[in-house]
Amino acid sequence: MKSSRTIVALILAVVAAAVGFPDHHYNEPRTVKKWAEDSWRMFQTATEKSVEAASEHFGVHDANMTLRISTKGRSECRVYAAIADHRETLSVVFPDRHMPVSGLHAVLLLDPFPGAYFGHPVLIFLIEKTSMDMCDERKGHYLHGNHLCIYVKNNSRCIQMKRNKSPSDRSTDTDCAFNFIPLVQGKEAGKQKLTCRENIGNFYTHCPVLRDTEDNLSVYCDKVRYNTHRCNVAEEAAEANCSSWQRCDHAMILSGGWNHQLSEYQSYLNVKEMFEMLKRIGFGENIKIFYANGEASTQEMPRMYSSILKESFKKHLRTLCNTKPCVETLVLYLNSPTLPNGNSLLWDADKNGEASPEEQFTVDEMLSSLQDCSAKQVVLLVDQSYSGVFTKKQSKNRKLRSNVIIVTSTSERQAAFGSDFRKYWSKEGLGEKCINNIYDEYINDPRTEDMTSLLLDTGSGASHRLTLNGGSCSNEPWGKISSKGCENLSSSRHWSDFGN
Ligand SMILES: *[C@@H]1O[C@H](CO)[C@@H](O)[C@H](O)[C@H]1NC(C)=O
Ligand SMILES: *[C@@H]1O[C@H](CO)[C@@H](O)[C@H](O)[C@H]1NC(C)=O
Ligand SMILES: *[C@@H]1O[C@H](CO)[C@@H](O)[C@H](O)[C@H]1NC(C)=O
Ligand SMILES: *[C@@H]1O[C@H](CO)[C@@H](O)[C@H](O)[C@H]1NC(C)=O
Ligand SMILES: *[C@@H]1O[C@H](CO)[C@@H](O)[C@H](O)[C@H]1NC(C)=O
Repeated sequence: MKSSRTIVALILAVVAAAVGFPDHHYNEPRTVKKWAEDSWRMFQTATEKSVEAASEHFGVHDANMTLRISTKGRSECRVYAAIADHRETLSVVFPDRHMPVSGLHAVLLLDPFPGAYFGHPVLIFLIEKTSMDMCDERKGHYLHGNHLCIYVKNNSRCIQMKRNKSPSDRSTDTDCAFNFIPLVQGKEAGKQKLTCRENIGNFYTHCPVLRDTEDNLSVYCDKVRYNTHRCNVAEEAAEANCSSWQRCDHAMILSGGWNHQLSEYQSYLNVKEMFEMLKRIGFGENIKIFYANGEASTQEMPRMYSSILKESFKKHLRTLCNTKPCVETLVLYLNSPTLPNGNSLLWDADKNGEASPEEQFTVDEMLSSLQDCSAKQVVLLVDQSYSGVFTKKQSKNRKLRSNVIIVTSTSERQAAFGSDFRKYWSKEGLGEKCINNIYDEYINDPRTEDMTSLLLDTGSGASHRLTLNGGSCSNEPWGKISSKGCENLSSSRHWSDFGN
């Protein structure tokens, strides 16, 4: 009697498993908590054995970083999870060069730097229904109850390719580390299933505040969908307001990005605060903003063009730089998710999760665009992870003329944290301060001592003489004529400065 009931129960269980009836004991937060704890323990155990081996295995860029992560408590790790619905498996697409993976039951991501901008190191765990032998082969952790294996994506091909490169290539190339939240899709293509989870055990409690989901995440003028002739927005975005008898201050902002998940509310605030500061110190109408997927003008902000309009950004910049006279001081603020080689990720317009060349703004492209810029002064404020690549490349190649000042929020190996940099560079009263004084205040603040902000002055110390809007900050005789951001040029001045 008893055994036949067991057999019936067993048959029901087998049928349920095969058909995929929901298990009514299934509790998602509890499952995620168990996986997150097991995954964190896998990382810790591997690190105790060998930091170097763990560093390679988990795709963290160096041993020091691996140690730094392992000394953190789990309370500093934010948890993301994706779990397949019935009758679907998950696939993972990475924005950088990692090969996609498919056939998964779940994906778990631990973010040990919840306060940092992306890219920065993350730990990614793949969960698949497999045999125990297969799991051992992958150096995974087997969950006997449900035949699931938690393992880490095999990165050895990428590491091998990197080793085969010459050391100079290696340092400038994207490395094999995991730096972003990948796109995890089930049945519905383009729909991100890897989402942040709050209150998972003792892990980091809060999720990031994202921009309002009512925001339209499609690009208003999507050049992938519309041909460029019909895309007036692209032309409008490229327009530059240069008049032949006036020289004005101009600013450009490139920010926000990649997708909804990497487009935190913080990035909107950064743009808004920088815009307001620039307006206060006289940049007026001449501020062009390329932000995330773009946004119509509102009461507080002008029209923002999508960051994917890279050609428009470049064209606008070229016009400003090549027209004489046009620009007195040009300020650029960059605040996008970045690859370890310093390249900015623009908007994932085709929503495929991979960063194609049109969806990236490389450091070389930006430096080349500023080469031979005729503006009197160019100030490049780079507030993003690995931003030190800018100063490093300029020191090495000396592409830029002596009219450029570059200030970065971090070094070329560091992720950028929080909004401290933006706070210093958007403060009240910046119009009177020398650029190097703002920089000094920032680096001398004890709260920012972990950050390696860099200042590179390609000229002969203009940062000690000039304010952000090109005014004189010391008692130099050539202060600004107008504080409105524009200067009328008399015809004699015009020809003496620009005639040939
Ligand atoms: C790791 O840290 C050690 C000691 O702090 C340092 O000498 C070494 O250069 C660091 N390695 C890397 C790759 O940053
Ligand atoms: C990763 O793949 C390589 C071959 O490409 C293999 O030799 C190695 O054992 C694999 N490592 C793991 C942990 O699966
Ligand atoms: C939102 O996107 C859709 C399609 O991509 C477009 O038709 C619509 O005009 C957009 N709405 C706004 C407010 O931008
Ligand atoms: C161009 O500049 C003039 C004067 O500086 C200003 O009145 C006008 O609004 C500007 N146009 C645009 C499109 O920015
Ligand atoms: C510059 O010229 C315009 C018109 O040509 C005039 O309205 C404006 O007041 C002038 N500004 C200054 C600072 O002289």
